[in-house]
Amino acid sequence: MTAKTVTTAVVLLTLVPFVLSCSKPQGVSLWERHCEACHDGKTILDGRVVADKEQIKRKYKTLEEFANACTKSPECMNIVKHEEGLLLKVGSEIGLAPAVKK
Ligand code: HEC
Repeated sequence: MTAKTVTTAVVLLTLVPFVLSCSKPQGVSLWERHCEACHDGKTILDGRVVADKEQIKRKYKTLEEFANACTKSPECMNIVKHEEGLLLKVGSEIGLAPAVKK
């Protein structure tokens, strides 16, 4: 490998994070991208209106409670059931705070 090849490789690798961040739609939150389509307070599934952001915020007091509601309950959508990491991110994004450690 020549020094030039190495330099080129280093330059390209340095650019990777920028290229990746470019492909993300700007200004769209995870909640909007993954949840709001159903949880907009208007969508009816199984004869019930799916809870919107505010209802979910009122229902769950902590981030963990919220994430557990999905990962540990048959009630929740299959698509996000195994996505605890995503749920934790979405939960903090909509304003839920983690439980205070004792
Ligand atoms: C394809 C539609 C759909 C998508 C997308 C979706 N959900 Fe749901 N979600 C539902 C339905 C249907 C229920 C069950 C509602 C019920 O039983 O009243 C539910 C239930 C829930 C519940 C528990 C029920 C409650 O009323 O508290 C939580 C929490 C939840 N969703 C969070 C999320 C989060 C966070 C996302 C995004 C990461 C998401 N959902 C994406 C349809 C969806």
